[in-house]
Amino acid sequence: MLDSVRAMRRAVCPGSYDPATNGHLDIVERAAALFDEVVVAVLINPKKQGLFTVEERLDMLREVTRDLPNVRVDSWHGLLVDYCRKHDIAAVAKGLRSVSDFDYELQMAQMNRELSGVETLLMSNNPAYSFLSSSLVKEVATYGGDVSGMVPEVVHERLKAKLPQQR
Ligand code: PNS
Repeated sequence: MLDSVRAMRRAVCPGSYDPATNGHLDIVERAAALFDEVVVAVLINPKKQGLFTVEERLDMLREVTRDLPNVRVDSWHGLLVDYCRKHDIAAVAKGLRSVSDFDYELQMAQMNRELSGVETLLMSNNPAYSFLSSSLVKEVATYGGDVSGMVPEVVHERLKAKLPQQR
């Protein structure tokens, strides 16, 4: 009975998602199995010129998460902790690819907790995706390398449309 009235447990999976990779999707799916609701939030960084516009990234994310009923997609300009406060989100869920990710992720987790009390869940990445990053995918795709197994189909289609070298 009490369960039915307890507060929704919400998490956010933040990132640039320029573009989303299979590694991102794996983390979003696993977070969705742990929380009542997961928001995939595209954090807008005005200092970074992206390959895809924020709208394009949101479109692709909506498409790849459309079979996950407790996942929604949003964008935010500003501090992640302010987004969490505004939307009553208690946890940040992120993937850890390697020890080299760890230092930076730990620093951000500690800063976010200091600022707002929000917890961070660092999930071990599927080893099959530990070499994947959006930047490497873009670089490989720019020079015509095959990234079809590294990103969802809809992302691959968009990369092909954007980069003539990508087949
Ligand atoms: O996909 P990325 O670029 O590695 O994601 C990094 C991101 C967007 C999660 C991080 O830069 C972030 O949280 N930016 C929002 C601004 C903010 O809150 N900065 C303080 C972090 S402690």
